[in-house]
Amino acid sequence: MTTGAKMQEEHLKPQSERGGVVVLDFGGQYTQLIARRIREQKVFSAILPCTTNVEEIRKYEPAGIILSGGPNSVYAADAPKCDPAVLSQGVPVLGICYGMQWITHTLGGHVERAGRREYGRAKLHFEDSSEQASPLFKNIPAGSNVWNSHGDHVRALAPGFRCTAKTENAVGAIEDRARKIYAVEFHPEVNHTTHGTEILRNFLFEVCKAEPKWNGAAFVEETVEAIRKKVGDKWAICGLSGGVDSTVAAVLVHKAIGNRLTNVFVNTGLLRKNEFEDTLKMYRERLGLHVIGVDATDLFLAQLKGVTDPEEKRKRIGREFIAVFDETARKLQAGEAHGEIGFLVQGTLYPDVIESVSVKGPSATIKTHHNVGGLPEKMPFALIEPLRDLFKDEVRRIGKDLGLPDEILLKHPFPGPGLAVRLLGEVNAEHLKLLREADAIVREEIKAAGLYSRIWQGFAVLLPVRSVGVMGDERTYGLTAAVRVVESDDAMTADWSRLPAEVLERISLRIVNEVRGITRVVYDITSKPPGTIEWE
Ligand code: XMP
Repeated sequence: MTTGAKMQEEHLKPQSERGGVVVLDFGGQYTQLIARRIREQKVFSAILPCTTNVEEIRKYEPAGIILSGGPNSVYAADAPKCDPAVLSQGVPVLGICYGMQWITHTLGGHVERAGRREYGRAKLHFEDSSEQASPLFKNIPAGSNVWNSHGDHVRALAPGFRCTAKTENAVGAIEDRARKIYAVEFHPEVNHTTHGTEILRNFLFEVCKAEPKWNGAAFVEETVEAIRKKVGDKWAICGLSGGVDSTVAAVLVHKAIGNRLTNVFVNTGLLRKNEFEDTLKMYRERLGLHVIGVDATDLFLAQLKGVTDPEEKRKRIGREFIAVFDETARKLQAGEAHGEIGFLVQGTLYPDVIESVSVKGPSATIKTHHNVGGLPEKMPFALIEPLRDLFKDEVRRIGKDLGLPDEILLKHPFPGPGLAVRLLGEVNAEHLKLLREADAIVREEIKAAGLYSRIWQGFAVLLPVRSVGVMGDERTYGLTAAVRVVESDDAMTADWSRLPAEVLERISLRIVNEVRGITRVVYDITSKPPGTIEWE
């Protein structure tokens, strides 16, 4: 666990975070992917802004440092730089794309705009097939495909370097083995580079001699211990959303301090069918968490009365959420907690923390992300964010290690403002009921078809649009449900799911037959971009 507060308290990182790789970010679109590929090899990795000073980097006792790609030209006036001392720590360095150009430029070589931009696949040819061949390319066949994306290239190597591989138009790889500096022009982290994983493995294990020791069990053990120390004899509070992130965070903190953690689960009245009751039950009976369920349905609906603008809905829900949470915390402070509540637990993830603007350096603010529609910012609590270093799939794996049931681990993401952003127009109890029923049918049928874990999200949206229909001998004039099912890896982009026609047909038939008030069903075939996943 590396909350900001903890980083200040402690000089060194936890054991499992030492001996890994520090990735210095020059603003490249694949920086997160580099970090992820390293973790897949059970080696810890942390992304830091390229301007991070060497002392901060040393706290990780890194086995290696990677300099990422980036969109700039090294010779531009505002080109991002890192401290050149990074290259003389005796720690192996791997530069990727811009990283290679920056190394060359900094150590006295020459980089210039390429006559021909190299974008896409290229073949890698080695300069040396002898004993002297680069350890980076151990067991990599000549002619292997690599993925390029650069407009600049290395024209003259810096003193001490040799070229170890070329592509058709450019220097593909360089090294100065004495100084342990290696660099590649292509992107080993993307799948299009056929042997990219092996190249990164060679860097980790042949060059850096890193140990593959980063795993879930070590993470849980260290995190629980660190939380215990940090909280001392105080109390903590956590806002649960029903999703995997806040649940895993709560279970970790509960393991550390037991019932000195009080969880709050708010029914906004905007949750899905039976979600409040079922989730509360699961929290209490299966996970043994101490949870206060607050039913604030009426408060939220009152706030939403007459509001149709999507942004206004979100704002009001966020504000009300803070008010309800604040009030609950105050009551707890005054009564139930027998000690001082000093901490607020949040399920913030790594991608929430890292922004590509980190290229601008440490002064650029890191986004504060609130999972639950915006938690109080002014609350007098220190934050505990045990998942700050993890990706979503890593959180799921930790959750599995902690014994969380699949219904939580595999649950589709659900927005903080809930059904309010899936119900177009004014949110009222009557429309919420229709949407809940239609939505439950969509999810039931997706599950019955065995597709639930294959898709990113599947849900219904209620449109305040009436159309004419006929049922039996009667004319109908009811509302419309849109069915939204998407496939995605990270919600940044998404593709509409090509659901089998039979599944769509069952969904449509069931909604029109079972939900009185909805008489038409349409399927959303918009991908993201240009659409977003949610409708509001
Ligand atoms: P969009 O609609 O922007 O959604 O394509 C991307 C992903 O984010 C989820 N989402 C939210 N999650 N609070 C959240 O915690 C929110 O306000 C929110 N809005 C959208 C959405 O469900 C999708 O997975």
